Amino acid sequence: MDSILINGGKPLKGNIRISGAKNASLPIMAASLLTDQVLELTNLPILSDIDTMEELLAHLGAKVFRIKENNDSLTLKISCDNMNNHQAPYEIVRKMRASIWVLGPLLAKYGKAVVSLPGGCAIGARQVDLHIAVLEAMGASITISEGYIHANSKTRLKACSFLFPGVSVGATINGILAASLADGTTHLSNCAMEPEIKDLCICLVKMGVIIEGIGTNDLKITGQKTLTGAKHNILPDRIEAGTYMIAGAITKGDITISGIDYEIVENVAQKLMQAGVLVTNMGDNIRVKYNGELKSVDMATHPYPGFSTDLQAQFMSLMTLADSSSVITENIFENRFMHVPELCRMGANISVDGNHAVVRGVGNLSGAEVMASDLRASVSLVLAGLAAKGSTKVRRVYHLDRGYQALEQKLSACGADIARIKGDSV
Ligand code: UD1
Repeated sequence: MDSILINGGKPLKGNIRISGAKNASLPIMAASLLTDQVLELTNLPILSDIDTMEELLAHLGAKVFRIKENNDSLTLKISCDNMNNHQAPYEIVRKMRASIWVLGPLLAKYGKAVVSLPGGCAIGARQVDLHIAVLEAMGASITISEGYIHANSKTRLKACSFLFPGVSVGATINGILAASLADGTTHLSNCAMEPEIKDLCICLVKMGVIIEGIGTNDLKITGQKTLTGAKHNILPDRIEAGTYMIAGAITKGDITISGIDYEIVENVAQKLMQAGVLVTNMGDNIRVKYNGELKSVDMATHPYPGFSTDLQAQFMSLMTLADSSSVITENIFENRFMHVPELCRMGANISVDGNHAVVRGVGNLSGAEVMASDLRASVSLVLAGLAAKGSTKVRRVYHLDRGYQALEQKLSACGADIARIKGDSV
C-alpha cells in the first residue's frame, strides 16, 4: 500500500484546477442502466471509485468504453442494451457504498434487483431503510436476506407521493432514479438538495424524464416508458474545491481555484472569511489568501446548502491552528471524528464530547506518522501535514485515491513538498 510523505511548512502559491465531481459521476453512471441507448459522460474524474462503478456496470452486463483519458478527465460511453445480470455482489459493494445506486434503476427497468447491503463503515452505521421505503412506496416488494436486498416488481413501478422523514442524499438519488421509469408523476418531498443531485436531474431530463423543482427539496418526476441516451458533462467537485481552499488557508498561502462556481462553495468561503482569510470571487476563479490571522470559528455540518460533512475533517485541521477555541458539530454521521486522535498526535488540542469537538488552537503542528480511516479524514491529515513543522507520513493512501484526482501533482504544482512512496505500508 502506498504512503504520502510531506515536508510541511511551505505556503501554497499558484493555481489548482478542479476535477469533475465524484458524487455526481457515480449516480449519473448508474442512470445509464435506465436506457438501452448510449450515455456519454465527459469530465469524469480519474478516481478509483469511478473504476469501481465501471466494474459494477460491466458485471451487470453493460458495455463501458473509455473514449478519452488525459491528465484532466475521463470520457466514458456506457451502453446498457443487453443486460444479463441483476445482482450487485458484496465483493464490489463493499469497496464502494455508492454501488447501492444501481438498486433503483435495475428495479425500475427490469423489475428485479439484488444488491448487497453495504454494511457500516468507519464513519457510522449508514442505514438503507429510506432507500427501501421510497422504492416500496412505488410498489416494489423488498426483502433482506443473507446480506442482500432483494427487490422485485411484477409490473412497472407506480408513481407515489413520498416524504423523506430525514434528509438523505443516497435515498433521494435512488428515489429519483426509480421514479424516472415509473408510471405517472412521483412527488418526493424533503429531498436532499446537493448540487450533485441537481446534476443528476439535469442529465435525466436530457434522457427524457420530466422533472419539476430541480435544485429544490421538492421534486415532481414524471416517469417515461423508455428513456433515450444523452451526452452530459459532469459538474466540478465542490468538496475537492473546498479542500484546496482550506489548504490555501492552512498553509498561509495564496492560491487560485479554477473551474468551479463560487455559489456552490459559498458556505466554505464564508467560514474562511469569518476566520480572517481573504476569499475573492473572480468569476471563473476563486482566490484564497491568508491575511495574517486565523480566528477560531464554530462550525456545524448540515445537508446542503449547509456546511458539508465531507469538509468537516479538513475544517477541523484548519481550526487546530486558529487563535482560540472553536466547537465543531457533526450532525450527519455518528462516528466521523476518527481523524481527531491522529491530529492530536501531530500536536493538536481537541476533545470530543458526543457529536461536538472542542478545538483549542495551538501555535504549531508537528509532523508525525499518521493513518486515516476514511477519505476525508485522510485528506485532513494531508492538510495538517502541509502546515506542520517537519515531516508527516500519511498511510493508507488508497482512501485518497477514491476521491482526489492527482492530489500530489496538484499540491506540488503550488509549491508543496509532497511525494508518494509506492508499496510502503500495510
Ligand atoms: C452523506 C452526506 C453526503 C456525503 C456522503 C459521503 C448529507 C446529508 N449526506 O451522503 O453529503 O457526500 O455522506 O460522506 O450530508 N440515513 C438513514 N437511512 C437511510 C439513509 C440515510 O437513516 O436509508 C441517515 C444516515 O445514517 C445519515 C443521514 O441519514 O445519518 C444522511 O445520510 P445520507 O445522506 O443518505 O448519506 P450519504 O448518501 O452517504
